[in-house]
This record gives sequence, structure tokens and C-alpha cells, in this order.
Amino acid sequence: MQTRRIGDAKVSAIGLGAMHLTTDRRPDEDRAVATIHAALDAGVTLIDTADAYTPSDRGLGANEEVVAKALSTYSGASAEVMVATKGGHTRDGEDWGTNGRPGYLRQACEASLRRLGVDTVDLYQHHRPDPEVPYEETMGGLKALYDAGLIARAGISNANPAQIRLAHEVLGDALVSVQNQFSPRFRSSESEIDLCEELGLAFLPWSPLGGMREAKDLGPTHTAFAEVADRHDVSPQQVCLAWELAISDVMIPIPGASRPQSIQDSVAAAGLRLTADELASLAN
Ligand SMILES: NC(=O)c1ccc[n+]([C@@H]2O[C@H](COP(=O)([O-])OP(=O)(O)OC[C@H]3O[C@@H](n4cnc5c(N)ncnc54)[C@H](OP(=O)(O)O)[C@@H]3O)[C@@H](O)[C@H]2O)c1
Repeated sequence: MQTRRIGDAKVSAIGLGAMHLTTDRRPDEDRAVATIHAALDAGVTLIDTADAYTPSDRGLGANEEVVAKALSTYSGASAEVMVATKGGHTRDGEDWGTNGRPGYLRQACEASLRRLGVDTVDLYQHHRPDPEVPYEETMGGLKALYDAGLIARAGISNANPAQIRLAHEVLGDALVSVQNQFSPRFRSSESEIDLCEELGLAFLPWSPLGGMREAKDLGPTHTAFAEVADRHDVSPQQVCLAWELAISDVMIPIPGASRPQSIQDSVAAAGLRLTADELASLAN
């Protein structure tokens, strides 16, 4: 499996986005564990979770719990797996709120540590800027978690270029990643990808497939992906992820999966080489 860097660590170039394993009203825990095990079997060493990825009728943490269960029951090696979780989103049933106060982040991080069963979070990402709290104050809270040894690396999510620069000023080398939305039909994070290259940060595109299911039914952008996929006899999803990997070495897509087959297929994108002409045909 091709690897990429997140700060001082190497992880698989394709991670697993764990969100949909538990955001359904009736999550299927056995299938969730089987999906994570399939990802690990396929060489995935990055799992993206969050305290807020929880069914609307449960408290925070269901997703972290299932990730912890899958890791503790895995028969293979899992010491190299980086679990990237997040704090700063609140949930009230179907409503998602934010709390960027340092005191709240500390409490959320301590709860994540308990659920994951670790002393230090591998990568702790601030989930989304809180409009009620100055970003610098929230970043100070993240730095305090790093200084206290509760988190090994810090990341941010849903941040614009000015916020990325501010986070970098406050956190210095502790900041290793940015997680923003990016996919064939949501490309407005290009300036943030460029900034990550400049600052040496990993960029984790979220929802990297952007709703790509029946690619040929989704208009001209996705048709181009379907055409390249036909040529290589692979899925359009694989082409999409290979295209993202080719954009920059800082890119580490985290495709979601709620079934083993999806992540098994997505992982193969790390070995798919697209020609310059094919990449050009996907550029717009
Ligand atoms: N930071 C944030 O604010 C934020 C927000 C949203 C998401 N995220 C992160 O991003 C991750 C991914 O986002 P997402 O799950 O919303 O969107 P996504 O990765 O763009 O799409 C996931 C969907 O694609 C399907 N799929 C995945 N690989 C496939 C393949 N190779 N072939 C066919 N279908 C495939 C999955 O099907 P099955 O379900 O049938 O397996 C699922 O329905 C989340 O899990 C989460 O970790 C972060």
C-alpha cells in the first residue's frame, strides 16, 4: 500500500471514513466491525472518526466505541493504525452544533480518550469553527491538549485559508493536517490544498466521492470519471480517489464505507495510475 505523511507518521494513502458506520438510526455493529476489519486487512492504517458521529438518539461517542471495539478484536497487527478523531461539534438529536471553548474541548478530548481506550489520541482534529468563539482561542485550547500530552498531533477541519494560517501560528509543528470537503463536484478547497503544500500539512478530503454512486447518471463531471473507469475496468470511485491522490502528495482521501466491499474497492485506488491525458480529462 502506498503511504503518505501526517506529520511525523506514515499512513496508508487511502484512509477509512467511519462516519456512516454509526450515523444511521439503527447502526449494525457487526457490519461496522467487519468493515473496519476489511479495511485493516486491505492495508488501511488511518481511520477517521469523531465523537459526534453518533445516532441521533444516542449520546456522543458511538463511532469511537465501534472503532475501539474493531481494533481490540482485530486478529492482525494494528499498532501502526492511526485513529484520527475530532471534537468541537455537539449533537442534540438531529441538530449539530458547535462548542469551540477550550474547556469544552478538554472535556471532549478526555471522553474520547476513555472511549478509545488510549492515553494519547494519535490525531485530534478540531471539527468545525465555532462562530461564537474566536478561532485563536479555540486553537489555544487545542495547543493546551497537545502540551498536556493528551494528543500526539493536532488537526483542524472545515477551516478557510486565514484560519489555517492562524492555527499554524498558534500550534506550530503540532498542527499536521486539515480536513475539508473536496470531491469532483466540490472543488472549492483548492486554495486550502495549496496552502497545505506550502505549510507541509496533510489534506484529508472529506466526502471525497461527493455522492458518486451511479456515476453515469450524475452529469458531465462524473461521466468523465465513468469513461476513465471503463478504460481501466475499475469503478468510478477508484478513479475519483486516484485522481485526488494525483493532485498532490499531501492528499489523503478518507472515503466512507458501511460495507467491506466499498473500502476494499476504494483501497485499490492507491495502486491505480492514471495517464496525464486522463488526469487532464478529469480536471474540470
Ligand atoms: N470533517 C467533517 O466535517 C466531515 C464531514 C463529513 C464527512 N467527514 C468524513 O469523511 C468521510 C467520508 O465521507 P462520506 O462517507 O460522507 O462520503 P464519501 O466518502 O464521499 O461517500 C461514501 C459513500 O460512497 C460509497 N462508497 C465508498 N467507496 C465506494 C466504492 N469503492 N464503490 C462504490 N461505492 C463506494 C459508500 O457506500 P456504502 O455505504 O454502501 O459502503 C458511501 O455510500 C466520513 O466517513 C467522515 O469520516 C468529515
